[in-house]
Amino acid sequence: MTTRVAVLISGNGSNLQALIDAIRMRILAMEIVVVVSNRKAAYGLERARQAGIPTHYHPLKPYTDSGRSRSEYDADLAAFLREYRPDWVILAGWMHVLSHAFLRHFPYRVVNLHPALPGKFPGAHAIEDALAAYQRGEIKHTGCMVHLVPDEAVDAGPVIGTSDVLIYPTDTVETLANRMHQAEHTLLVQSVRRLIEGDEEEEG
Ligand code: GRF
Repeated sequence: MTTRVAVLISGNGSNLQALIDAIRMRILAMEIVVVVSNRKAAYGLERARQAGIPTHYHPLKPYTDSGRSRSEYDADLAAFLREYRPDWVILAGWMHVLSHAFLRHFPYRVVNLHPALPGKFPGAHAIEDALAAYQRGEIKHTGCMVHLVPDEAVDAGPVIGTSDVLIYPTDTVETLANRMHQAEHTLLVQSVRRLIEGDEEEEG
């Protein structure tokens, strides 16, 4: 059975593209069954459409405007995704923290990509934070990781893979972010491949 994957994005979707390309090159034996974005303008939605993948826009604002809770938003998102029967849910630049109302539907089946090494720089400004720490002489390099999301801890959970990313004295946020994204694309594909192969071994 081909592994079914749902991908959640909020922006450019270059990591989604890395997955799409790896499927095309037969590096990953899986199907992306749906791509969801919380932002309508996310370019990743266009990447999905071009690859013939169903897309869905799931904004938070209608919930907050009508006094509905974040849990309801998360539960509705989970209900939508369950229709697609994903084996894995990949957060590839998804900028919302998912609560138990979502995670309980996909236990140990949600995977997050984060542009920092385990235990370092959680949150939305990991690359800027790492560069600032480097400039203060606190770190020599940074990196990225792919990890499982078993609970509501932010950018933390059992690690699937990491990749170191060098920082140079001449780096700006932009040059470091470019190098980070290159590393992420490779790491995400390697990590997802490891997860799929793990499933296959279990199936025997
Ligand atoms: C990546 O750096 C990811 O780690 C972070 O958001 C970025 C998404 O980039 N959480 P893209 O949308 O895949 O290009």
